Amino acid sequence: MSERTIKLQIKDMTKKYDNGDGVEHINLTIYEGEIVTMLGPSGCGKSTILRTLGGFLDTTSGDIEIDGKSIIALPPEKRPTAMVFQSYNLWPHMTIYENLAFGLKLRKVPKAEIDASVKHHLELVSMSGCEKKYPGQLSGGQQQRIAIARSLMLKPAVLLLDEPFSALDAKIRQQMREELKKIQSELGITVVFVTHDQEEAMALSHRIVVMNKGVFEQVGTPTEIYDNPASKYVASFIGEMNFLDKDGKTLAVRPEDVTIIQDGESDISGTVRTIMILGHYVEVNVQCGETVVKCFVDREVSDKLSIGDPVKLKFTKHHVF
Ligand SMILES: Nc1ncnc2c1ncn2[C@@H]1O[C@H](COP(=O)(O)OP(=O)(O)OP(=O)(O)O)[C@@H](O)[C@H]1O
Ligand SMILES: [Mg+2]
Repeated sequence: MSERTIKLQIKDMTKKYDNGDGVEHINLTIYEGEIVTMLGPSGCGKSTILRTLGGFLDTTSGDIEIDGKSIIALPPEKRPTAMVFQSYNLWPHMTIYENLAFGLKLRKVPKAEIDASVKHHLELVSMSGCEKKYPGQLSGGQQQRIAIARSLMLKPAVLLLDEPFSALDAKIRQQMREELKKIQSELGITVVFVTHDQEEAMALSHRIVVMNKGVFEQVGTPTEIYDNPASKYVASFIGEMNFLDKDGKTLAVRPEDVTIIQDGESDISGTVRTIMILGHYVEVNVQCGETVVKCFVDREVSDKLSIGDPVKLKFTKHHVF
């Protein structure tokens, strides 16, 4: 494999607000062409990190480098970054063309070049032909595409996206996710994405940073984080997980790693509490003493089960915390 180029480096960065909240001793290396997602619950510090990258917040200590150069002394407009926020922040009194052209006009780019860039970027986000419309005449998802196009027109070294799809409904969100992934791989641009939605993070990212109260709990690829969660917190935050007490420790087992067995030695036994058919798989909840163990099984398995049946469970894979 070829050597990867480092695009962005956060070096022992701390950002404390006056009230003591914030993030501390953040270290992260992001490579060229990567989508890295900051994932965590509300208030864990995702936006704080993104804003320090974009220059909208000063850092308390530490450094941030892009292409090997420190950017912390630069104001947002001088940084090689562009940021898209949750709310669309298009200028409502300007047409889409004017919204898109604005940044390049400021940079004194010739009109013919601006026109070509607007056309190209509208194509890129599948919004060709809407130059004359106003933001208010577009849906939320369409406005957000324009906001992304506007950021891309500035040719940033790193694109920063702070929950850009969270105001959109589930279906459109999924579609935007796929489109962003496509645009990113076409352009090979480096993206830092922020979300509290684990599914969105799993679907979109090359690597995920799982955050908890201002610190990084785990940094890894979606598969690494799903298959080998570094802590109980990560295990509970990503995907579904059963937690069972065993000899003073916590056993964590994913529902797809529980099998219902007829013979042989089982890990635990119980009685069937509920059976729910969820399309191509079935969720069976088994009451094992005080705890309920969730299992994902195939239809052939669940068709033979009834509520109240005694069953034996075997864990094909588990983690201990
Ligand atoms: N301007 C501010 N002044 C003081 N404290 C702040 C400020 N902005 C954020 N905080 C605090 O810093 C912490 C991290 O906030 P941040 O906005 O980075 O969280 P987040 O992970 O982006 O959350 P959300 O998912 O809700 O957007 C929170 O405890 C928050 O209350
Ligand atoms: Mg936020």
